[in-house]
Formats: sequence, structure tokens, C-alpha cells
Amino acid sequence: MSDQADKAASPEHAPEVTVIIPTYQEAESLPQLLERLGAVRRGGVDLNVLVVDDDSGDGTDSVIAALNLDWVRLITRTNARGLSSAVLRGMREATGRSCVVMDADLSHPPEVIPDFLEALRGGADFVVGSRYVPGGSTEDGWGVLRWINSKVATVMARPFTSVRDPMSGFLGFSRELIADPSVLDPVGYKIGLELIVKGGCTRVEEVPIHFSTRTHGQSKLSLRVQLQYLDHILRLARWKYPKLSSFVPFAAVGASGVGVYVLLLWLLEALAGGLIGEDFRIVLAIVGTMVWNFTFDRWLAFWYARSQPLLGQLAGFIAVCSVPVVVNFLVTRWLIGDDFVSPAAGAIGAVTGSVAGVVFNWFVMRAVVFRGRSHERG
Ligand code: GDD
Ligand code: MN
Repeated sequence: MSDQADKAASPEHAPEVTVIIPTYQEAESLPQLLERLGAVRRGGVDLNVLVVDDDSGDGTDSVIAALNLDWVRLITRTNARGLSSAVLRGMREATGRSCVVMDADLSHPPEVIPDFLEALRGGADFVVGSRYVPGGSTEDGWGVLRWINSKVATVMARPFTSVRDPMSGFLGFSRELIADPSVLDPVGYKIGLELIVKGGCTRVEEVPIHFSTRTHGQSKLSLRVQLQYLDHILRLARWKYPKLSSFVPFAAVGASGVGVYVLLLWLLEALAGGLIGEDFRIVLAIVGTMVWNFTFDRWLAFWYARSQPLLGQLAGFIAVCSVPVVVNFLVTRWLIGDDFVSPAAGAIGAVTGSVAGVVFNWFVMRAVVFRGRSHERG
């Protein structure tokens, strides 16, 4: 569509808010939800609705067609799946000045949408329907497991936001919140957390809600979804704290290298002590340790540069490491004395070399060997 056509089609008739409802097999819940949204609409909220369905095959389309509401539009996706990507699709197609995202299963009360809009008008850059602020609640019937699960996930989100209920899927925000949607990772279930962090939201307001237990259909919260959450947290950490997320694994791998080095020295002495001279054994242990560190650093500390050629990086890695390694070598050699390879001498040599090297190496590695922008996707 050309810019011209775009202009003609939208702003004048833009409703105040587009309610985005991702659905998978929610045909049974939709009539009641749309009925309640209709009441909110009659109450004076200028809203339209976008249902983003992943080709549920349960009659969702005929239910919506039968209701025949001109303020409800159904998008059926056949080439993509997943809650977050459905929400992102809805955000792309929304026409309202603001977006509200909510579940279809009647867990989220549409009657609070006016409170969402008031918060946005009052300057909030993000609104969350929250179970954990005064006035909010969760319907009885949540098993202990689901409760623990939700708590653990909430604690893990703490480094990114102080919102009491960052797991909520009931969200409100301006359609312009994310200037460049390509920064968004449609991974997992926690699109709210993703939007708060990558939208750089500072004024997040929580509107208390009573979270009802669904009465129709099933939750799609599986073990796989929970594992995806760990991946999501890692990506957010890399996005929000790129240097720390690089340095911490780098230092940890460096520390593990001390153990590897000592083990290699000991193994080489025990297995080939009579065959290989001690200087050469030290050099071999150092090279082995470098390969170990390179492998894990490339994976965990310099993830953002993994698409660049491996051999060039290995050569650069060894060259940079060699500076502190010379320190390591000299200290080890000096401690060992005549012809006695002691694990303790190896350990002291490695610790000295590593401590001298870890900060120096990290800076030089990032500047020279693993270049790239670490805040762009993990
Ligand atoms: N299009 C699409 N595709 N929609 C989906 C998909 C999918 O793959 N998976 C789930 N949905 C829709 C559901 O149909 C429902 O409308 C909404 O997303 C939430 O899914 P539920 O299966 O009801 O999730 P839940 O109740 O376990 O989790 C809800 O509560 C959590 C907090 O406890 C969601 O709101 C989560 O976002 C929230 O974190
Ligand atoms: Mn639900």
C-alpha cells in the first residue's frame, strides 16, 4: 500500500484503541468476551477488536462471522504460530492510537479497559492488568505448581522491571511504543516483559484485576513454553545489559580454564612425563586451555559474533591470550624450579595469568577479535 492510500485509510477514523486478542481454540469463549467488549464500547470507549487466530479449526471463524460485528476483525494465520508473534502481528495491523492485548479465555476483565486508557492519557507509557497490586487477585483453583511457577518466573524478571506482575498478558500501550519492531523477539509467552524492556518503558502503571480461571478450553502453557522463558530471559539480559552479559560468562569461563589447565598439566605429566620435556608440557597445557576457553567464550561471551569465521577468531583469540599467557608461563616456570611439575605451581601460574589477563583480554577481544553489536539480538 502506498503512503497516500495509507493516509487516506487511517488516521481520521482511527479509534482510540485496538483490542488485540490472540487466540488458539477459543471459539467457546469468544461470544461472551465480545459481548462484554461490546458493553464497554457502548459505555463510550471508542474501540475496535482484532482477533489473531492461528487457524484453530474449531469454528472460530464462523463464530465471529455469525456475530457480524463491524468493529471486530479476524486475522487467521496459517503460516505462523505462537502467542508472541500473534500479538506482534496484531500490533502491525492495529489502527487504534493505543493497543490493548488480552487473553480470549475470560481470564482478563475487559471492563477495566477505561482504566487502562486513563492511565495512558495520564502519561503512563505502559499499563499492566495486575494480580499483585492492592485490589488485584487470582481466582482460587490455581494449583501449587502453577503458583510456584509464576512466582519463580516473576523473580527472574526482577532485573528488568519492578512491575509486580510482569508475567501478565493483559497489556496497554501506545501503538508507537516500539519505533523499530525488528528489535522484538517473538519468543515465548511473555510479550509484556519484552515490550516493557525493549520499549524502554519507565512509567509502567498497574491496574488491579481479578484474574479468573478459564472455564472453556485449555491453557497452552506447556513445559516447552517454560523453557522458552529461560531463553527469553537470557536474550533480554543480553539486550539490556550487553557488557555485563558478556563479561560475566567470560570471567566464569576464564575461571574454569584454571581447572582445565591444572588438569592438563597433571595429565601430561602422569601420562607423558617421560616423553615430553616440561616446557613443552606447559605449552601444550596452555594451548589446550586456550582452545577450551575459545570454545566456550565464543558461545557464551561473544555470542553476537558467532556468524563470523571461526578460524580467524581462533587465531585472534590465541594471539590476544598469549600476552597474559606469557605472564602465566613465566610464573609457572619460575615456581616449578628445576624439574618438578607441581599442580600448585600450575594453579598459581594460571591464577596470576588469568587475573592479569581477564580484564585486558575481554576489552581487546571485543575491540579486535569478536566485533559486532552485542545489544542486537542473542
Ligand atoms: N494466536 C495464538 N497462537 N494465540 C495463542 C497461542 C498461539 O500459539 N497460544 C495461546 N494463545 C492465546 C490463547 O488462546 C489465549 O487467548 C491467550 O493466548 C493466553 O493463552 P492461555 O493458554 O490461556 O495462557 P495462560 O492462561 O496459561 O497464560 C496467561 O496467563 C499468564 C499469567 O499467568 C497468559 O495471559 C500469559 O500471557 C500470562 O503470562
Ligand atoms: Mn488463560
